[in-house]
Amino acid sequence: MTTKPIGIGTDHGGFPLKRCIMDTVRNKGYALLDLGTNSDEPVDYPDHVHKLVHSVVLGTVDTGILLCGTGIGVSIVANRHNLIRAAVCYDTETARLARQHNNANVLCIGGRKTTEKLAIEMVEIFLSTDFLGGRHARRVRKMGKTI
Ligand code: RB5
Repeated sequence: MTTKPIGIGTDHGGFPLKRCIMDTVRNKGYALLDLGTNSDEPVDYPDHVHKLVHSVVLGTVDTGILLCGTGIGVSIVANRHNLIRAAVCYDTETARLARQHNNANVLCIGGRKTTEKLAIEMVEIFLSTDFLGGRHARRVRKMGKTI
């Protein structure tokens, strides 16, 4: 899906899942860009999202994984940027469809709502599923249209 490193950023709410997700990404053959946080001390999730967005803008990464307690906060912040299509996924099907239909480039996971097993499965699927293109490409192009 990408030859670049996968960016990973989290707050304290997602931190407990970070290690197993990093292991999963490495096992799939990708390098990682670790954008913090690196403890369960409370931090502000937008700070880590902005680091990922910055890496995408610079071209250092084009795919990321963001974690917070629910996955919602990080997705809201990430989607404020027009290079980002961030999807909060909560099962294996949403992880697959986020790639196939939405060409999502950022997977958002709720660390307080997701088991390790499910997080690993979602990451594996997200990183190995291609965008289907076709009618979905037309819809993705329309995402950027302003009113
Ligand atoms: C932090 O307590 C929590 O608000 C954050 O991790 C996230 O769930 C926000 O959307």
